[in-house]
Amino acid sequence: MSHGTFDHTTTNAGIPVESDEHSLTVAADGPILLQDAYLIEKMAQFNRERVPERVVHAKGGGAYGTFEVTADVSQFTKADLFQPGRRTEMLARFSTVAGEQGSPDTWRDPRGFALKFYTAQGNYDLVGNNTPVFFVRDPLKFQDFIRSQKRRPDSGLRDHDMQWDFWTLSPESAHMVTWLMGDRGIPRTWRHMNGYGSHTYLWVNGGGEKFWVKYHFKTDQGIEYLTQEDADRLAGENADAHRQDLFESIARREAPTWTLYVQVMPFDDAPDYRFNPFDLTKVWPHGDYPLIEVGRMRLDRNPDDHFVHIEQSAFEPSNLVPGIGPSPDKMLLGRLFSYPDTHRYRIGPNYTQLPPNRPHSPVRSYSKDGPMRYEPARTGAVYAPNSYGGPAADTARFGEPAGWHAAGEMVRQAYTPRAADDDFGQAGTMVRDVLDDAQRTRLVGNIAGHLADGVSRPVLDRALRYWRNVDKDLGDRVATAVDGG
Ligand code: NDP
Ligand code: HEM
Repeated sequence: MSHGTFDHTTTNAGIPVESDEHSLTVAADGPILLQDAYLIEKMAQFNRERVPERVVHAKGGGAYGTFEVTADVSQFTKADLFQPGRRTEMLARFSTVAGEQGSPDTWRDPRGFALKFYTAQGNYDLVGNNTPVFFVRDPLKFQDFIRSQKRRPDSGLRDHDMQWDFWTLSPESAHMVTWLMGDRGIPRTWRHMNGYGSHTYLWVNGGGEKFWVKYHFKTDQGIEYLTQEDADRLAGENADAHRQDLFESIARREAPTWTLYVQVMPFDDAPDYRFNPFDLTKVWPHGDYPLIEVGRMRLDRNPDDHFVHIEQSAFEPSNLVPGIGPSPDKMLLGRLFSYPDTHRYRIGPNYTQLPPNRPHSPVRSYSKDGPMRYEPARTGAVYAPNSYGGPAADTARFGEPAGWHAAGEMVRQAYTPRAADDDFGQAGTMVRDVLDDAQRTRLVGNIAGHLADGVSRPVLDRALRYWRNVDKDLGDRVATAVDGG
């Protein structure tokens, strides 16, 4: 039989196969034989094709690209990837949060904005969203928050009553929910949204000076959004609209770009700032800390295998490189544990050896063995310290952790309150000072539409109080839209 220009098929062991179409049987009409190792390999491999989907952010897409530094921020950080003129290879993955693998890209939801930079000093991951704030400020509430967004245990349906019940009992969510219900709650495509590091991070310069920073990736394509009606229609017509848009624009050589800016707060400003600068439900006003340009990210290379490069990509906020550290944001500190833990479960303990996760700089760790180990251990000895030429930590060069002073009793308490630490203030500022009349009217419509979908009376009453706390006029308009007052 001719194979045209194709090479012959083999088994996974490289052995030529006899047929692509016929199982091994006793005569043409007879039973299938157990000795058909090729048939068994095909069935067994197929049965194991899926890894568990991500517990959140399951539906997404991504691409490779480059980050290029266009300004000089070396006075704030010694991180190699942010030094003047540096170009660093990177991977980006965008996602929705609550839906499953096959869910529509245009559901109202925050979008994940996960970045992995293959720096000369190891992988640096910035795992952010298209929002500068989040729903809760303590990692102990994250699991409950996500449960309220996902499906009911009885019907298997998503449930707006659960969502509003949780949000209204967690008033710290108000800023993020205002954002979510606004135009930016459904971006037109992933190319038309900003990305934010959201948390505050620590930067350390070559002289050991420390600064608090927030990252803002502004889309160079311009912000564009979908109305609820357009999003609903698209969800039916093309559930993969955003994944398709990114893939096809890169294939057409229209590489999307984002410009990175940072806000920089002097280290010593933090204790006396009027609200807690590490609270993830708040932004730093641009008036206090203006945006400083850093560089540009450009995505120009599609994955040649979505599963290998995107499904198996593993982002983790704990991948911090010299010159960058965490901050006392409790959410960030919780996330430092969560991500590598979930990757070990979802993909396996050797996930860092897979193509999208493999550092482009040398790995000289003492980890060894484990399922699906691919790289041999590179060390001369399998323990440290040793006298046989294995790697040794360069404490003189890397020994100073990027941290801060902490002391006190062990407690389970909210952040110490400060003068401007309320839950509704910044949400109200957005409604009154940032949105125009048309945006406010769409916000009212989006909130009312969401509330009209299965929210029970006591929760609804609480929701109306929640919106009046954000802004009295907005709350009144929502009340009128929902039930005439
Ligand atoms: P500014 O007027 O300097 O900033 C307002 C920012 O709001 C803009 O820069 C833009 O952020 C963002 N924005 C514009 N339209 C919308 C929209 N429809 N939905 C969501 N965000 C929008 O004021 P402040 O810095 O003092 O912030 C005022 C309020 O603006 C905050 O309370 C917050 O709600 C919101 N905001 C502030 C941000 C910050 O980091 N300071 C970032 C985003 C929003 P961008 O340029 O990033 O697109
Ligand atoms: C994905 C946990 C808060 C952004 C995930 C995953 C987990 C998780 C377990 C799945 C990862 C995987 O399977 O690959 C948590 C916890 C949080 C938290 C415990 C709070 C304590 C946040 C916040 C942001 C965020 C605040 C953004 C600022 C993301 C993104 C992804 C993700 C973008 C998808 C990454 C990818 O594309 O692979 N999160 N999360 N998360 N999270 Fe969080």
